[in-house]
Amino acid sequence: MAIARLALTNFRNHADALIAPDEPMIVLAGENGAGKTNILEAISLLSPGRGLRGAPLREMARQGGPGGFAIAARIGDRQVGTGTEASAPDKRQVRIDGKTASASSLSGLLAMSWLTPAMDRLFLESPGGRRRFLDRLVLARHPGHATHSVRYEAAMRARNALLGDDAPADPAWLAALEAQMAEHGALIDAARRELIAELEAQIAASAQRLFARPALMLSGWQGDEAELRAALGAGRARDKAAGRALAGPHRADLLVRHVGKDQEAALCSTGEQKALLLSLILAHAELVRAMSGRPLIILLDEVAAHLDPVRRAALFERLRATGGQVWMTGTEATLFAELGTATRLTVAEGRIVAG
Ligand SMILES: Nc1ncnc2c1ncn2[C@@H]1O[C@H](COP(=O)(O)OP(=O)(O)OP(=O)(O)O)[C@@H](O)[C@H]1O
Ligand SMILES: [Mg+2]
Repeated sequence: MAIARLALTNFRNHADALIAPDEPMIVLAGENGAGKTNILEAISLLSPGRGLRGAPLREMARQGGPGGFAIAARIGDRQVGTGTEASAPDKRQVRIDGKTASASSLSGLLAMSWLTPAMDRLFLESPGGRRRFLDRLVLARHPGHATHSVRYEAAMRARNALLGDDAPADPAWLAALEAQMAEHGALIDAARRELIAELEAQIAASAQRLFARPALMLSGWQGDEAELRAALGAGRARDKAAGRALAGPHRADLLVRHVGKDQEAALCSTGEQKALLLSLILAHAELVRAMSGRPLIILLDEVAAHLDPVRRAALFERLRATGGQVWMTGTEATLFAELGTATRLTVAEGRIVAG
């Protein structure tokens, strides 16, 4: 069992909510606006990053509350907490077993993936969303990925600022920042490519074909540490003119094709795009189960509603077989009739009741 206990305090519309799931499959049913996605968002904040809405922290503290919010979870014998204080609404605090920790360190405790209605546009929008999607999956295999991203971005911001100055930049200082970008950037790129290869193998091995089969490719910059350092060093004038670094893994994109249709994902129907994402999430869960000992949490917001009963039953079966903890939402409890044993909860106006 991954999250044995989850407590929300003043998080969005939940003043004080407690969930102690006793089954790996968890259903949150309730009307529109009840607070189901908010619960998934709270769980997503138990991993590095901005959560499944990518929302600013200050938006999450309950309106009409005292300011600040808290999310507390028991994961095995570990106590994890995150939130903000009223005095610092934009500063995320993380505690693991009572000690202050970095958000990056959360990936060492849990592996997590999610699928939300907002991701219906993933293949249509800018590469940033697809990079974040890919990096979320990478994180489950490489917990250090979050730290490399933080350090890469910090060095890149410092280099952009230095190049943006009117005064000529100190070449030694630039070289030091570029070395830091190259070190972490090469590791980011390598981890992404490794995960894509692993996922491709997992997808090929997977017997179930009810969900569309994706083929994956990483586009954009590729290279090792020395190549990235050289590219950055050679690109200073160009990057100064552009106002940002034009080489590096922050420019990568995840390209997905629908194998059966031989069509790129962006040109597929909404339902086909959803099926591709579902396949990726399932293959990833199976991969994480096979390759890592860390508990996996899967958050599926309104996924069941879009599937016919046969695919729904197949989805439930595959999810259960991953051994992960699966949190699913839906406006109708009946959508989960084929699910079998599960912790079934009803969410209503920020309150949570069994059944
Ligand atoms: N900071 C906040 N304080 C209080 N309420 C908030 C805050 N942020 C969002 N809400 C409210 O929380 C409510 C529940 O949102 P949520 O997205 O979780 O609903 P939901 O159950 O997933 O509904 P749907 O089925 O429509 O997706 C919304 O009415 C929203 O306005
Ligand atoms: Mg919702």
